Order: sequence, then structure tokens, then C-alpha cells
Amino acid sequence: MATSDLASPQTAEPDRSPVSRGDSSTSAIFFLCALIAGIVAVALAGLSMTEALTQLGVSDPGEITNRGLPFLRAAGEIVAVVAVGSLLLAAFLVPPQKSGVLDVDGYRAVRMASTASAIWAAIALVMVPMELSAASGMKISEAMQPANALDGLEQVNKSGAWLAVAIIAILVAVFSRLVLRWGWVPFLLAGSILSILPLAITGHAAAGGGHDYGVNSLAFHLVGASLWAGGLFAVLAHARRRGAYSDVVIRRYSHMATVAFVVVALSGIVNALVRVPLGALFTTTYGLLIVGKVAALLVLGIIGYLQRRSSVRALQDDPTARGPLIRLASVEAIVFAATFGLAVALGAAPTPTPEQGAAVPSDTAMALGYDLNGPFTLGKMMFEWRFDLIFGTAAIVLFVVYLLGVRRLRQRGDAWKMGRTISWGLGCAALLITTSSGVGKYMTAMFSVHMGAHMALSMLVPVLFVLGTPITLALRALRPAGKNGIPGPREWLLIGLQSKFSKFITHPVVAATLFVGGFYGLYLGGIYNIIVPMHTGHVLMNVHFLLSGYLFYWIVLGLDPAPRKLAPVTRLGIVMATLPLHAFFGIALMMTDTVMGLEFYNRLALPWVPDLLADQKTGGGITWAAGELPLLLIMTALAVQWFRADDREAKQHDRRALRDHDEELVAHNRMFQELARRDAEEQRNRG
Ligand code: HEM
Repeated sequence: MATSDLASPQTAEPDRSPVSRGDSSTSAIFFLCALIAGIVAVALAGLSMTEALTQLGVSDPGEITNRGLPFLRAAGEIVAVVAVGSLLLAAFLVPPQKSGVLDVDGYRAVRMASTASAIWAAIALVMVPMELSAASGMKISEAMQPANALDGLEQVNKSGAWLAVAIIAILVAVFSRLVLRWGWVPFLLAGSILSILPLAITGHAAAGGGHDYGVNSLAFHLVGASLWAGGLFAVLAHARRRGAYSDVVIRRYSHMATVAFVVVALSGIVNALVRVPLGALFTTTYGLLIVGKVAALLVLGIIGYLQRRSSVRALQDDPTARGPLIRLASVEAIVFAATFGLAVALGAAPTPTPEQGAAVPSDTAMALGYDLNGPFTLGKMMFEWRFDLIFGTAAIVLFVVYLLGVRRLRQRGDAWKMGRTISWGLGCAALLITTSSGVGKYMTAMFSVHMGAHMALSMLVPVLFVLGTPITLALRALRPAGKNGIPGPREWLLIGLQSKFSKFITHPVVAATLFVGGFYGLYLGGIYNIIVPMHTGHVLMNVHFLLSGYLFYWIVLGLDPAPRKLAPVTRLGIVMATLPLHAFFGIALMMTDTVMGLEFYNRLALPWVPDLLADQKTGGGITWAAGELPLLLIMTALAVQWFRADDREAKQHDRRALRDHDEELVAHNRMFQELARRDAEEQRNRG
């Protein structure tokens, strides 16, 4: 593997052979951490095992399941976060070569991620029958019989979730073996995080009242914890291999770890509050384990602070001074391992019962995560808020980050149009209102409200966001790579914009298919029926509406830099082509006689929605009416842009003509002057 030609490494004699001696001893440390996590999980889960079995109402599945399940889960999570951290290091902590090929440090990290993902996949496959054994009380040998294991996949949600983990992890393992170019690594990183997320629906979070908060906060918690702990493991491995750019690596990791600390703390507290009344904090095993988690967080926070004070500073002064970093990071890795063990024991411990102060959820709360207080009205829409942890938080963060970008431009003395800031702010407000006001609360329960929210998320919010030209702002506000030439966020954004992937998704046919074709696939293709009962189904739908809408309006409005520059006439053509498809979808929805999501809506049995078909037809009407308006607005805006572009061209033509004409005039004058000079000369000669 070639050495970096991007910038000269700032370390003395880094070990740059593809397979380093440091790798095997680092693997031994990771193995030890996995072992510690597993042992802590088994020991702490054992404290409440009998109570847990009684609460579940199943017979004892035997020692292998009772001990194997927490052990493998905790050890597996350590392995999984090693994969996440290694890919994080290769993607954003160490630079690739200028050619875009991974440098030796990135390459080694990706190889480590591949091995870790393969082990994580193997563990996930073993967890499929284990979860069946735990849920049914059958012995593991019985649960492993193919017929039973297949039944388990259908009947036990947790087994299905582990299969999803295994499939994603196998894909990450295989592709990490093949990849040599940096451009693929961020996708692998996303894949490795995705391989952990199904765990969010395998703990207590997915069930009972408040499960929307439970699953969303656990998703944040898992992402934060895996980047934080995984990043630390990867930094440790990098330092032990004497990798290059240690000072840059630790500085970047340190910034990220601070954010992860806050995310893990807040999401952990929200998740705990969903099911632990404060009174049960010190009187139940579950509550005491939470207290243990808070203590672990504080210890990790203190170690992180010491890292910043000693190791980070030492490395900034001398990039070869890795000793303090390695020592402290080794201790931190062990604390992380024990905390993961504690986390798994928490997931296995019985939650406080109603006698211990926990609330008894209603049927509606079991289905949606919360109760609904009568029919959907304007008053409820405006005043009955339930903050959406994912989209509400996204709206606030996006607004703050945008304002920080504008502030940086202003501080530099650069202008930024107020209209763009207002448009972005309105987009964030629309996102917050749609997902967190009464609309967000009722959209999961009523088809008509769902369609109204769908229109807002795929039409209104994206148009407002695109008018805020965030890419232009980012390119102007982010600092270019420093003197050392190490790529940073601005370069990553530019590479992303110029990548083949961006070119592909911004192709008009692809963008329009995702935008309008998504409607047909989702509702008329039967996907809605499958995902409507799931909380994650609603989250994924919202993500799809926002992203496909943003993609479509990004290329149609053409205000921000994009991988493809389309002429206004082409953009107008795209909108004209999609307009009838959109209208037809609304009409088809109004005419269909089959109720979508029938089973789920019947189960909810809301007394104020007696006729599900009528509610669906209202949804179709909203789609038809709401969908036309923004599209017509866009068409008008495009026509104006087109006209202006024509006008601009005409003016340019006039200016060119005028300039050319001036030049002609000057040339003529010069010619006449020359003629006059020659005539005068001739006359003088004759005279
Ligand atoms: C304020 C401190 C913390 C609190 C209140 C907290 C709370 C929680 C809660 C309530 C759960 C859900 C368990 C269940 O399903 O019942 C959880 C899971 C988890 N926590 Fe924490 N936590 C905290 C800190 C941490 C830290 C520092 C880490 C490690 C970096 C961590 C890693 C995890 C992991 C990996 C899970 C998922 C475990 C699994 O389901 O297998 N937590 N935490």
C-alpha cells in the first residue's frame, strides 16, 4: 500500500506496513473488552433473572440461554462498535491519499471493521434461536431446530431484528474487504451503524406506553454510544499501531466525543424516564442499574476530560507522544466495556411494575405510544403537542447550525440574503409543527392526517429548505483545508457533491421516480399496510418524504450547486411530467374501495373515525389539492427564472452587440483617420 502523498505525516517513523504487529495485540485488548462486557452482563442480569422469568410468564429456558444471551449480546455489541469506530476513523479521522485511495491507516482500519462485522454477524445469527428460546421457554437445542428457528423468525420480533442485524453486518463485512477508495467508506460507516439500530426494538423500549419516545431515544443513545466507544477503540488501535496524524485524529475524536457525551446522557435520561418513576430509582433492580449507568457516564466524562487536558495537549505539542493517550484510552476502553455489560443487564432486567409506581398503558398507548384525547380539531392541532425526538430535534439543530453558518459569514463581513435565512427558518418551523404539534400526534392514528403531514413533509418543508440554499451557505462558511492539506468537512461535501452516487440520484428520472413513484409504491404497492403498525415504519416514511422531496426540489429549483446543472426548460419539463402523475395518485386514492392499513386502524378503533374509507378519501382529496398548489407555484417560479434567464441572455446579447458596435465604430474611425492621413501625405508629396 502506498504511503500518503496528501501531506507529509507529522509522526516520526510511523509503522506503515499493511499488517502491523500492533494489530494483533490490539485485537487481544478488544477481545478482553468483549469478555469483560459479557461477564458484567451475565453477572448483573443474574441478579434479576428469576424475577424476569416470572414477569415474562415463561418456563426456564436453561442455563445456556440465560447466561449465553446477555453474554453474547454484550460481547457482540463491543465487536460491533469496534467496526463502527474503525470505519469512523477511516472515513473522517485520518485522511486518504490525494488520489482518493485509502492511506495505510485507513486501509487497516477498514480491514479491522470487516473482521469485526463478520464476528458481529455470526453472533447475530446465534441470537436468532436464542431469542426464541428466551421468549418461549424452550431449550436452546430445541429452538435451534430449523423448523422452530423459522417459526421464531415469524413470531418473535427480536429474532427478526437479529436476522436484520446479521444481514446488514454481513454486507458491511464483505464490502469492507473489497473497498480501497475513500468514497465508499462513509457508506460503510452508515451500514455499520445501521447494523446496531435494530437493537432499539429488542429491548424494553419497543413495548408499552411511551414506546415512540423509548425507540427514538434509544436510537440516539445507540448511535451516540457506538460512535463514542467505537471511536475510542479505533483511536487506541491507531495509536498502538503508531499511525500517522495522531494529533489530528485525537483532536477530531475529542470534538466528536463531547457531542456524543451529551447525546448519550440526554437520550439515556429520556429513555429511563419513559418507564422508571423517580420513586423506583433506588428501590428496584432496574432503577439501581440506571443509577449505575449515570455513575459510568460520569466516570467516562472525567476520563474524557483528563484525556483532553493531558493526551490531546501532549499530542498537539509532539505528535509522537502517544504514551499518555494509550494509557488513559486503555482504562477508558475497559470502563466502556463494563458500561456496555451494564446496559445489556438493564435491557434484561424487569421494569418497575404498576405496584412500584409505573403507569398502566391503555390500548391506544400500546399501539401508538401515547393516548389521544378525542377527535382531531383545529384546537388539538395547535395546542396538543408531543415533541418528536427525531424530527423535532432535527428541526432545532438544523436551524441553529444554519444560523451559526450565517454568523460566520457576517463576522467575515460577507453578505447573506435575509430571505434565505427566513425561508430556512420557516422550513425548520414547518418540520417542527408537522411532526410535533397535534398533526404529528394524530398522523399515526388517522389516514387523512397522515396524508396532510405527508404533503407538508414532501412539498412544503423541502421547498422552504431548498430556498434557504444550505449547500451554498456550507461551502462559503466552512473553512477550506488548512496548510497541511488534510481534507475537512468542506472537502467532504465537495467530494460528496461530485461523487457518482450524487450524479446518479440527481438524475431527473431517478429523482422524479423517488419523489412521485414513492407514492405509488408505498400506498398502492402494499408497503403501507405492512409498516403502518410499526413505529419505525412511521419514522422511515417521514425520512423518505423529506429526502425525496428535498432531492426533487433541489434539482428542480436549481438554486444550490448540484452535480448536474439543468436548463430551466428541462426543469420545467420535469415538473410538467410529474404534475399529472401526482394528480392521478390523489384521484386514485379517492376512488379506491380498499382501506389501507385496515387491520391496524381497526385495532385502534377510534370512535371518532367510524368510516375508515371516508377518512381515506379525505386523505386522497388532501393529496390532490395540496399536491397541485406547490407544484403550480414551482412552475410559475421556474417560468419566471426561465424568462429572466432569457432576458439576461437578451441583455447580454445587446451588451455584446453594443460593445461589438463600439469596436466597429472605433475600427471605422481608425480606418478613416488612416485614410485622411494617407490623403494628406499624398497631397503633400504632390505639392
Ligand atoms: C445518563 C447515563 C445513562 C442512562 C440514564 C442510560 C440509560 C439507558 C437505558 C434506560 C437503556 C435502555 C435499556 C432497556 O432496554 O431497558 C440504555 C441502553 C443502552 N445504553 Fe445507556 N444509559 C446511560 C449511559 C450510557 C453510557 C455511558 C453508555 C456507553 C457508552 C450506554 C450504552 C447503552 C447501550 C449500548 C444500550 C443498549 C443496550 C442493549 O439493549 O443491548 N449508556 N441506557
